[in-house]
Amino acid sequence: MSERPLLAGRRAVVFDAYGTLFDVHSAVQRHADAVGPAAARLSELWRVKQLEYSWTLSLIGRTAPFWQLTERALDFALASHPDVDAGLRDRLLDAYRDLDAYGEVPGVLERLRARGLSTAILSNGDDAMLGRSVASAGLASRLDAVLSADAAGVFKTHPRAYAVALDTLGVPAEAVLFCSSNRWDIAGATAFGFACAWINRTGKPDEYADLAPVAVLSDLAGLF
Ligand code: LAC
Repeated sequence: MSERPLLAGRRAVVFDAYGTLFDVHSAVQRHADAVGPAAARLSELWRVKQLEYSWTLSLIGRTAPFWQLTERALDFALASHPDVDAGLRDRLLDAYRDLDAYGEVPGVLERLRARGLSTAILSNGDDAMLGRSVASAGLASRLDAVLSADAAGVFKTHPRAYAVALDTLGVPAEAVLFCSSNRWDIAGATAFGFACAWINRTGKPDEYADLAPVAVLSDLAGLF
């Protein structure tokens, strides 16, 4: 079976979780009727603030459970959208605990492992949050490791966060292909020394030109 250059020489494929394996917008989507016409804007602001809080804390030299940042980001997004029923908060958070995995994910993980590659998540998500996401999406048996940046005490894009994957998987950086839908995460992982595939699911323009991926794919099926 001919191997795509992307996977040649690799021993592990490491994935970002939220946005890459799990659709962060599926939480609001599940309650779109109740949320109303602001649903897409609310979901986008929720995500942007969740990420902003992780970067701000990291620059301050602090960290916090990513689930706490997720709750606070939703609170900000709801306060910014008085047209949305704030009573939906708990239902939206419950939906975020059980996000949908993108359709191609289970089969891609199985195909990678069938080729003898290790599969792992490396995420800013805390252990409890990740454990729930992986279990609810039925991915636990398809992953060799589920790793939180919490083990490094600092969020991605700090190099110590990416090093968690090497320490746990016991492979050198050049044996890893790192996949993320978040271009900022690709920049950080590239700076750390990983070869990266940017999973540009929504056709965004490129950025961080000096920290480029080795491939840009529209979804994970493009790995093969
Ligand atoms: C993750 C988020 C930041 O690390 O996408 O999974």
